[in-house]
Amino acid sequence: MAKIIGGLTTSHIPAVGNAIANKLFDEPYWKPFFDGYPPLRDWLDIHKPDVAINIYNDHGLGFFLNQMPTFAIGAAHEYINEDEGWGIPVLPPFPGDAPLSWHIIESMVEDEFDITSCQELPVDHGFTVPMQLFWPGLGDHPNFPRAIPISANTVQHPIPTLKRALDFGKALGRAIRSYPEDIKVVVLGTGGMSHQLDGERAGFINKEFDQMCMEKIVTDPESLTKISRRELVEKAGAQGTEFLMWMMMRGALSEKVKPLHTNYHIPISNTGAGTMLLECID
Ligand code: DHB
Ligand code: FE
Repeated sequence: MAKIIGGLTTSHIPAVGNAIANKLFDEPYWKPFFDGYPPLRDWLDIHKPDVAINIYNDHGLGFFLNQMPTFAIGAAHEYINEDEGWGIPVLPPFPGDAPLSWHIIESMVEDEFDITSCQELPVDHGFTVPMQLFWPGLGDHPNFPRAIPISANTVQHPIPTLKRALDFGKALGRAIRSYPEDIKVVVLGTGGMSHQLDGERAGFINKEFDQMCMEKIVTDPESLTKISRRELVEKAGAQGTEFLMWMMMRGALSEKVKPLHTNYHIPISNTGAGTMLLECID
């Protein structure tokens, strides 16, 4: 049977894609951010997951305001990346795992989550930057996993509640664990933490709130479901709603997890950049 070995989180800022392309790892601005990743890569090199479930939020590349699924799951054999206009290089296609995708979709619909299934889904920086951070070199990396993108709407209100995100993750975990193949799966929660890119509060970051979220997502994710969407926007900024992806990831993991590594650095571009490695406890 498939096994979920753990969860990884990271912010997915486009400027990071640019820094990777230009190898800015040791520049003073970037070093404290990139230094957060080697422990996660070491863990991935030891455990070698076969599949990465990449929970991200599309930013207008795959879906636009005219068609905005609340929850969408990729069901393709590969996922292409396209130019989003940030000046970051377009990456080669990412291999998928369509049989596992369809198993997850069937199981989640059976579990009463209404899913948009996507046999085509161009993936943006929300998906690609984390893949580059965790598996540098992508297809040239010896343990590069197959990937399944899962996107939730954080762009156009009404967005899902934090409770719905955690419940989605729990159903996702049940779906993965019921897959009969003996594969190892890691779940990525990308985006966040606090940031606001537009309006009067552009540049808003809330370190205290981010650190509270990083603590509670390990010990008591249920307590975070008490935060309303309005409060989330107030405390984390308009784009801080991307924390929903972390909640979806957390729901898929075991009830108790071991936090093996944490890094937090502000600012990277406009964002409180948080990275975590949570190992599942059998
Ligand atoms: C930034 C952060 C994001 O999450 C994003 O999608 C785009 C830009 C930023 O901080 O610049
Ligand atoms: Fe984003």
